[in-house]
Amino acid sequence: MNTKDRLASIWEGSNPPGFSPLEQNITTQVCVVGGGIAGVSAAYQLAKRGFKVTLIEAFQLASGQTDRTTAHLTTQLEEQFLELVKMHGKESTRLFHEAHRSAIQTIETICETENISCDFKRLNGYLFRGENFSEKNLLEEKKAAHECGIELDFVAETPLLREGISSLKFENQAQFNPIKYISGLVRVLGDLGVSIFEGTHIRHLNNTQSDLTTLTTDNGFEIKANYVVVATDTPISTRFSIHSKQFAYRTYAVAFQVSQSPMEEVLLWDTEDPYHYVRFVGDTLVVGGADHRTGQSPEKDPFYEIEDWTRQNFSFVGDVCWKWSGQVFEPADQLPYIGKNPGLESNIFIITGASGVGMTTGTFGSLLISDLIEGKENPYASLFDPNRAPMHGVGEYMMENVNVAFQYKDWITPSQVKRREDIPEDSGSLLRDGLSKSCVYHAQGENFETKSAVCPHLGGIVHWNDIEKTWDCPCHGSRFNTEGKVIEGPSLSNLLEP
Ligand SMILES: Cc1cc2nc3c(=O)[nH]c(=O)nc-3n(C[C@H](O)[C@H](O)[C@H](O)COP(=O)(O)OP(=O)(O)OC[C@H]3O[C@@H](n4cnc5c(N)ncnc54)[C@H](O)[C@@H]3O)c2cc1C
Ligand code: FES
Repeated sequence: MNTKDRLASIWEGSNPPGFSPLEQNITTQVCVVGGGIAGVSAAYQLAKRGFKVTLIEAFQLASGQTDRTTAHLTTQLEEQFLELVKMHGKESTRLFHEAHRSAIQTIETICETENISCDFKRLNGYLFRGENFSEKNLLEEKKAAHECGIELDFVAETPLLREGISSLKFENQAQFNPIKYISGLVRVLGDLGVSIFEGTHIRHLNNTQSDLTTLTTDNGFEIKANYVVVATDTPISTRFSIHSKQFAYRTYAVAFQVSQSPMEEVLLWDTEDPYHYVRFVGDTLVVGGADHRTGQSPEKDPFYEIEDWTRQNFSFVGDVCWKWSGQVFEPADQLPYIGKNPGLESNIFIITGASGVGMTTGTFGSLLISDLIEGKENPYASLFDPNRAPMHGVGEYMMENVNVAFQYKDWITPSQVKRREDIPEDSGSLLRDGLSKSCVYHAQGENFETKSAVCPHLGGIVHWNDIEKTWDCPCHGSRFNTEGKVIEGPSLSNLLEP
């Protein structure tokens, strides 16, 4: 189902129904852009509250990162409490935890009330000690959680792992099939009268201060909306501000056949950086990790790294049956950006910066945005305000932006191959011609696709991603397919002709 990346994920086959592209100008009360968990959930919440909603998706619903997820529903997967308390204090850490907890509850309630069958299941999660953590560190983490009012049990033995690996137990976490969930929500959207258009890429938003925002599609059709919810994973409504406060990472998942059902089905994640995350999907064990900055190739094959780690830790796994990758956006201060589009007094709202917890973030984000649009108070509004300065993660912010600045060196680096014929088939390389740089994809035989290597967003030089066969920008995570078509923002345009 995923027309953008080469590798299909384990959720393939659970697709939502298809919808036609927009082929006329329309007016709507709310236009939600992006058909992943954040956008579909926002459309659902707003339609439930009586708004006239239109949902716009560039490709197919749930074909973005929602299709690439491993769908752990946890109250802590990404950042440890000690770190969060250091950055934001106890009360904000408690609130952040509570936001995830209530999002899991919201998903469960929606499944029940809307009769959505998506393999939702409550189960325990365990944060287990990696090589970087001593038992003392784990106890400090438990103490930090306790001081925020979050009770975790220390356990000396962790289910599924070899003897002597201690962990912290998180009760009442959950897992589900995200595509079945989206399919169920989409059925309800139909009943609620939401208009849905797929294959409709937004090329331009006019961010004026008028009551109506105009969104223009690639085909030149206009959508006039009183409110716009930008749920495009990374926002297409801001050119710079948010993109200097969050950073694009690739992450990888591998599913292994397991011959017998697990004694206890649990979620696992470890304390390493990057961390590993583990769950069962039917008769497979899915293991994720090996994260690295987008467009900056790791030394080791990420799939090999995951397989090696898995076989060392879980002796019961068999053959690899799926492997795929995806992209997450890491905010400098670890908290997502949910609220009014920065710097504008317009009625545009964003949900972004979800890191590896976008299932819950998209869900509480949809509730927060709906409250903001309705003018209601929400306990998380100031915590996740996109306008906040990166005061708390300032070290991370500086380091990551130095990394971004360094990527512009590629403007002066030489060609990666002498002639385009030297590029292996089904692969890509950068070629210099005088002052300009092209990205060349060698399809087969004499068949080449050549585009300018300059990312239309802010002029980074794209890099070849040989795993998903895409051109990825190392600056802010825009991605393009082999024909140069944009498949992930923040770029709104395709790669130009050379
Ligand atoms: C390997 C992996 C494992 C993960 N594991 C977990 C996990 O266990 N738990 C968890 O909570 N999270 C996890 N995540 C993160 C989670 O998958 C994402 O954060 C989440 O899916 C983001 O949802 P979204 O709706 O914001 O974005 P998306 O699902 O990416 O949806 C955005 C949509 O917007 C559309 N769009 C973009 N630009 C335009 C435009 N200009 N016009 C129209 N449409 C546009 C895109 O086509 C896309 O469909 C994981 C991610 C990966 C990659
Ligand atoms: S994504 Fe910003 S320059 Fe490419």
